[in-house]
Amino acid sequence: MCSAQWTHLANLTRTVHLEPMTFDVLDAVMVIESQTHSNPWQRRQFDDCLNHGHHARVLLADGVLSGYFVAMMGYEEVHLLTLAVTPDHQRRGHARTMLKALAAWSIEQNARSLWLELRVSNARAMHVYQAAGFQKIALRRNYYPTPDGLCEDAQVMCLTLGVCPT
Ligand SMILES: CC(C)(COP(=O)(O)OP(=O)(O)OC[C@H]1O[C@@H](n2cnc3c(N)ncnc32)[C@H](O)[C@@H]1OP(=O)(O)O)[C@@H](O)C(=O)NCCC(=O)NCCS
Repeated sequence: MCSAQWTHLANLTRTVHLEPMTFDVLDAVMVIESQTHSNPWQRRQFDDCLNHGHHARVLLADGVLSGYFVAMMGYEEVHLLTLAVTPDHQRRGHARTMLKALAAWSIEQNARSLWLELRVSNARAMHVYQAAGFQKIALRRNYYPTPDGLCEDAQVMCLTLGVCPT
C-alpha cells in the first residue's frame, strides 16, 4: 500500500460515540467553543445548562472530545441551544451524528418538533441543518451581536419529528 493510502487510513475515525457532558469536560468544551463561535458562550452558560439538567452530550472520536451539543426540553418540543465540532474534525459527519442522536432522544421524550436558531450568515451550519431535514420558519431581526458592534438576524429553523408512539 502506498504512503498516500496509509495517510488516508490514518485520518479515518474508527470509533464515534456520545457521552453526557459533565463539569469536568468543560475546559475542553470551552476550547472548541472559542475556536468555532464569533461570540462564544461563557463557561457559566454551560454551568447553568448542566445545573438545570439540560440534555448535553459530547462526541468522542477515537476517544478525543471533538464536538458537543446542548438542548433544552420544552412543552412537546426541544430547543437546540448550541452545537459545534472542533475545526480539524469537521466534515466527517459528526454534526449529522449528533443531530440524529438528538432527534432520537427528542422522540423518546415525546417531543413533536426540534427547534433552533442560527446566524443568517452561517451558511455552513444552515446547509447541515437543512440536509438533516430542518426547515426555515422565520427570522428574528437583529438577534445576534456581531464582532463589529452591529447586529445580525437569526434564522429560526424547525424539524418536525412526527407523531410519537404512545
Ligand atoms: C456547522 C458544524 C457544526 C458542522 O459540523 P460538521 O461535523 O462539519 O458537519 P457534518 O460533517 O456532519 O456535515 C455533513 C457534511 O460532512 C460530509 N461528510 C459526512 N461524513 C463524512 C465523512 N466521513 N468524511 C467526509 N465528509 C463527510 C457530508 O457530505 C456533508 O458535507 P456537505 O455539507 O458538503 O454535504 C461545524 O461546521 C461547526 O462547528 N461550526 C461552528 C459552530 C456552528 O456554526 N454551530 C452551529 C450553530 S450553533
